[in-house]
Parts: sequence; structure tokens; C-alpha cells
Amino acid sequence: MLSVLDLKTMKENNEKLSMVTAYDYPSAKQAEQAEMDMILVGDSVGMVVLGYESTVEVTMDDMIHHAKAVKRGAPNTFTAVDMPFMSYHISLEDSLRNAKRLFQETNAQCLKIEGNSAETPLFIQRLAEAGIPVIAHLGLTPQTVNVLGGFKVQGKNKDAGEKLLNDAKTMADCGAAALVLECVPKELAEMVTNAISIPTIGIGAGSDCDGQVLVYHDILKYGVDRLPKFVKSFADFNDTGTEALQSYISEVKQKNFPDDAHSFLMKHNDSLPDNG
Ligand code: KIV
Ligand code: NA
Repeated sequence: MLSVLDLKTMKENNEKLSMVTAYDYPSAKQAEQAEMDMILVGDSVGMVVLGYESTVEVTMDDMIHHAKAVKRGAPNTFTAVDMPFMSYHISLEDSLRNAKRLFQETNAQCLKIEGNSAETPLFIQRLAEAGIPVIAHLGLTPQTVNVLGGFKVQGKNKDAGEKLLNDAKTMADCGAAALVLECVPKELAEMVTNAISIPTIGIGAGSDCDGQVLVYHDILKYGVDRLPKFVKSFADFNDTGTEALQSYISEVKQKNFPDDAHSFLMKHNDSLPDNG
């Protein structure tokens, strides 16, 4: 299993990092089998798997429930878990308590938090000191979608770009293990990547980030209808899945399933009980 030190070494060696979200046992097992560098139990679980409108509805209990399943499926893959909405904004003490719970109960290797609020650097520093690595997340931060006014590309003008660059440096300085950059122009992501020593992991941030992350269901086109511009689907499980279910229905209706090959047969007919 990779460690946070390996992530840094990989950046130094210009070796790209692969990361995918996973939310349950089978997706985690598959990611580990595919030899993914890192798994993220994203709070995107709320939208992708639970059908919520946004990640704002996701709770600590949701994250723990799903992260535990992921770790059972991928015990040997470096796994980060998202701290959900408002689990780290009430007070430092409250944030540390939630971080402890999420880290301890899930057996994860790392936590992830969004944004750079006034308390973020101290929070990350306190966690790093306590032995809990944290991945930072800048650019489009879905938990603050109601303040950002929608899911839009961030850092598009000079001021916003400068703020993002400075925030990224702050994240690296306070001891963040890596930095997710979501929906920022390629050129800005490249600048940030070159400016800090911790790995950047891009999603909608171009090819110059040190690594890439995508949502499992987007990669497989599984249960998702509209895909954002930055997503590339590498399979179409919507179609293959539906077709498989249709074949099953049709074989049941036509009495072709189950055939004898999928049934248990008596060796001797006289073993059957007498009927009346
Ligand atoms: O929750 C999530 O899936 C994420 C990734 C998009 C980085 O935070
Ligand atoms: Na997230």
C-alpha cells in the first residue's frame, strides 16, 4: 500500500497518480484488483449512490458506513475519506473529534477536506501532528455550491487565480498530504502544480496535475445521465447493465431461465416424497 511519502516521491519522479472514488465493497474490490494507486470515499456518494441533490445532505454516519465497506473491499489500497458538510466548521475541537472518529472507525489512511476557511490551516496542522494525513481540496468545492452559485469552473480571472495559488501554497505549508484541484483552468492547475511540493490531483483541471481522480460511476457510466465536460467514460454500464436485465426478464417470461444447468436435480426420482 502506498503511503503519503510515496505520493510525494511519485511527484518528484514525475510519475502520475491514479485515484478513483469508491463507495462500497464491490467497487473497492475492483479498484484494488485494477491496481489503482488511491481510492477516495468521496461525499459524492450522496449524489451518485444515495440520490441526494447535493453533498450538503451527507452525514458522518453515511461516510462511516460507506468507508467501512470500502476498506473491507480494498484493505491494501491507500484510501482517503471525505469529511462531510459542516463536520469540520463548527469549532476546532468538534472538527478534531469528527476527524478522529472518521479515521479510527473506517481504518482509512487519510482524510480529505474542502476549501481554505480561516480555521483550515490550523486544523490540517493539528491532524498531521496527531498522525492523520489530510488531502486538501480547492477550486470547485461542492459542499459550498450554495455560496459558489452552482457547479462552475473556478479561478478563471486573475484575482481568483491568485487566491487559488495562495490557498494552494497555504495548504502545502500547513502540512496537507496532497491537493485535489476541481474544475480549474488547465493553465492555472499547471502553475499550482509547479508551485507546491505536494502532489496535485486534478478533476477537470487538465493533464499537468500530478494525478487524476474521477468518480467510479462516471468512468463506468453507471447510473449517471448527464456527464460534465471533464469526464471521460471508459465503459457504458448503463447500456450493458440494462441489456443484461432485459435478457434476464425475457428468459424468465419465456421460461428459458432457469434451465437444468442452473437447477438442482435429484439423483434418483424415487427419492421424491410421495404426493398424497
Ligand atoms: O466526492 C468526490 O467525489 C470528490 C472528488 C470529485 C474529488 O471529492
Ligand atoms: Na467530495
